[in-house]
Amino acid sequence: MDEDLEQIIIPAARLRAGVRALGRRITRDYAERDLHLITILRGGLFFLTDLARAIALPLSLDCLGISSYAGQQQGTVRLTKDLDDSIQGRDVLIVEDIIDTGLTLAYIRRHLLLREPASLRICTLLDRPYRRIVDIPVDYVGFEIPDVFVVGYGLDWRGRYRNLDCIATLRPELYR
Ligand code: IMP
Ligand code: MG
Repeated sequence: MDEDLEQIIIPAARLRAGVRALGRRITRDYAERDLHLITILRGGLFFLTDLARAIALPLSLDCLGISSYAGQQQGTVRLTKDLDDSIQGRDVLIVEDIIDTGLTLAYIRRHLLLREPASLRICTLLDRPYRRIVDIPVDYVGFEIPDVFVVGYGLDWRGRYRNLDCIATLRPELYR
């Protein structure tokens, strides 16, 4: 294991099983619907591609690019890449890597609702529900995790570690 990493908290096999379980639930819930997956670049990419293949339904997908301002403007989000396709009248499922304060998704949710989808739900791989600052409805959760910084399976630290096939914690001295 890389020297920056501390501990694997979700091994690859458990991650795969969790993603497949979410795929089965979504398959049941979205039969006969017009399922359109939207992920937020870049952290959600790995989860999106595996989740899409775990859903046994016709579906389409799109990506939204954002950059969030840290600091005083917490929760202010700027679009860096808009969706390619209209979501009006479609059953949109947001596919996110991790929800922490909920500020990012609250913004994105408000923004997407203005475009009048038929429905809008949220699926996140990882969740820290006890860290919420704003309340948002989360319909599908893969794993609840403790309050430690994690990398892997799309999640990065300074752009690295997205390609780990597990979720691992970073040595705390690196980010404290
Ligand atoms: P929120 O707006 O506080 O919910 O922030 C969620 C976003 O922060 C996620 O989409 C990630 O991009 C980032 N994030 C939060 N926790 C972690 C982590 O442990 N590792 C990597 N990125 C994280
Ligand atoms: Mg993200």
